[in-house]
Amino acid sequence: MAYEKREQLYEGKAKKVYATEDPNVVIVSYKDDATAFNGQKKGTITGKGAINNRMTNNLMRRLEAKGVPTHYIEELNDRETAVKKVSIVPLEVIVRNISAGSFAKRYGVEEGIVFDEPTIEFSYKNDDLHDPLINSYHAVALKLATWDEIDTIKKYAFQVNDFLKKTLAECGVTLVDFKLEFGKTADGTIVLADEISPDTCRLWDEKTHEKLDKDRFRRDLGGAEEAYEEVMRRLMGDR
Ligand code: TMP
Repeated sequence: MAYEKREQLYEGKAKKVYATEDPNVVIVSYKDDATAFNGQKKGTITGKGAINNRMTNNLMRRLEAKGVPTHYIEELNDRETAVKKVSIVPLEVIVRNISAGSFAKRYGVEEGIVFDEPTIEFSYKNDDLHDPLINSYHAVALKLATWDEIDTIKKYAFQVNDFLKKTLAECGVTLVDFKLEFGKTADGTIVLADEISPDTCRLWDEKTHEKLDKDRFRRDLGGAEEAYEEVMRRLMGDR
């Protein structure tokens, strides 16, 4: 089925969303734009839109096969994908296997401590408030999600972690942490939405611990394009 792109519904920092002729389907279009620190730092990672689109779709198809429902419908071209129209649960769901980033900063520990078990946390998706950390009681009090939805989200997030960690380990990449977003379809089903890419994951080379993700841009390390291409090549071959 070929979906036709209609009016633009939304433009985010890294993607645009368009309506289609089907009210239950939208098209996401991935940009090369990169931002960090709540949009204060802006730049471009050439080729990232196509990489993030194709990598997300590849991983979502494989997650569906493992029983994690996603918004994915059909890849339309290098940058564009038809997905189910959902209302996004305004929580950033962060799973960590190794200390890094805001965890290391908040608790005053070095990066690279391997946890015995993965951790999960939520941030309230709200740019004006800078996406503050939120606990599940507060999320329920604010009616951002119900307890059932939070339980479902946690279950899926850990399933995604098990799958991603193993899949990446097989190509010599260590999954440090990542961020997921979930959406609700018209009938209230919770599905994995947004993306899974080097924008939203911390990925370290297993041997050298070289950073293969957006931290290269956030921290001005250079070589972001090459790092994204390297992850893509290892995960998906040259397709
Ligand atoms: P953090 O350590 O900065 O909290 O980031 C945890 C993970 O979430 C890391 O893999 C990067 C990802 N992330 C996003 O995808 N979007 C964001 O806005 C932030 C702050 C982090």
